Amino acid sequence: MIDIIKQDLAEKLGKAIRLAYSDKIGDLYTEFEIDESRLVKFVYAKLEIPRDGKMGDYAIPAFFLSKTFKEKPVEIAQRIFEKIDSDLFNITGPYINARISPVYLAELILPDLFSHGAKFGSQTVGAGQNIAIDFSSPNIAKPFGVGHLRSTAIGNSLYRIYEKLGYNCIGINHLGDWGTQFGRMIVAWKKWGSQAELEKDPIKYLYSLYVKFHEEEANDPALAEEGKSWFKKLEAGDEEATKLWNLFKDYSLKEFKRIYELLDVHFDHYTGESFYQNLTDDAIDRLTKAGLVSESEGAMVVNLDEYDMPPCLLRKADGATLYATRDLAGLFYRYEQFKFDKALYVVGSAQAIHFKQVFKVVELLKEPYHDSLTHVEFGWIRFKDQAMSTRKGNIVFLDELIDTAKEKVSAIIKEKNPNLPNLEQTALDVALGAIIFSDLSVKKHKDVNFSWNEALSFEGETGPY
Ligand code: ARG
Repeated sequence: MIDIIKQDLAEKLGKAIRLAYSDKIGDLYTEFEIDESRLVKFVYAKLEIPRDGKMGDYAIPAFFLSKTFKEKPVEIAQRIFEKIDSDLFNITGPYINARISPVYLAELILPDLFSHGAKFGSQTVGAGQNIAIDFSSPNIAKPFGVGHLRSTAIGNSLYRIYEKLGYNCIGINHLGDWGTQFGRMIVAWKKWGSQAELEKDPIKYLYSLYVKFHEEEANDPALAEEGKSWFKKLEAGDEEATKLWNLFKDYSLKEFKRIYELLDVHFDHYTGESFYQNLTDDAIDRLTKAGLVSESEGAMVVNLDEYDMPPCLLRKADGATLYATRDLAGLFYRYEQFKFDKALYVVGSAQAIHFKQVFKVVELLKEPYHDSLTHVEFGWIRFKDQAMSTRKGNIVFLDELIDTAKEKVSAIIKEKNPNLPNLEQTALDVALGAIIFSDLSVKKHKDVNFSWNEALSFEGETGPY
């Protein structure tokens, strides 16, 4: 990639060198085996970024010219400097330095920006390469929490960055729409569910049933068994189970899509865990044929003792498949379908072991793409030391976070700028910006200690500012 600033500085310097040494320039071409057309490229390669930025942002040392021009570097720097037609430059001893000014930068970049529009800054390093980005991936029948917001914000940024670099991006929403928890949801719905309540506020209501199930389960262990058997029915395609599952899924997707619309996030595929249910048998077969599967207390596993990891569970004793089974099936499918050059999984650090296991299994299978897989980890968003867990029922709902932010921003606007037209929309835009910014401005491995004062501040490095 050509750096347009360096290119411009090299052109200015090249011109000055030619003017200062018109008599000896031929010696320079002979010495370095270049010609006039390659002078700028040659100078470009000599430009350095000084370790101490006091004198400038770029510098070129004149030493390399002294043998050819048979002068001291300090004198050469001086002679070239006198011929430079630009006030960006200064000299210190043998160094010609350039200090980039905002005006210079604007003049250099704006014409390019205007002529290229949205394509400005695009590159081609990724041309012809496919990159599968698994991000957001919330769980149905549960509210969209702030943890999934982090995956959404980071994943969407990566998608846009890779796209700018010329990659062909495939954005995949691996919805959590399969697994034993849906057996439990079905039991909870059959025991306590009310259609009228569901219609009022579907996701929160479904979630409250899920929380209730876990509370009741503590006193009534039979519930867990019922949950398992309903999931088995679901896996077997039972009509009633499927109908309820579809109900949960439809309401959830409607809600998720509303949120994605708000955040301007798009996916190329909504292929959740359920999408792979028919592919898990094949996946297990493939692993079995490769001699990787063993039995442990009736379950099918890939033993990973040798690598200091817990076994990767493929099938429980009751026949049910697991999260990892579906991720493996998903990976085989994605490679077949997209022939990805890289595959990213933008998922919280809590799942680090899971991805290590899945990637290790793929490596043991000697799949050609085993080293093209990355778990893009990130830390928790914390609200006063409370990590988020959907089981205990203390999840922070994105919806509520957005509403609170919007209220707080409105209050600030009313105070600072009472006549602002379009208050509602502006408050929402600023609120969303505040949330996303505070999320993306923290190094992704670290936890975000979310604070309203910081996120909504109109000063410093914040979204509102
Ligand atoms: N649904 C999962 C969760 O909320 C995240 C899924 C991430 N993607 C994947 N391929 N496992 O924890």
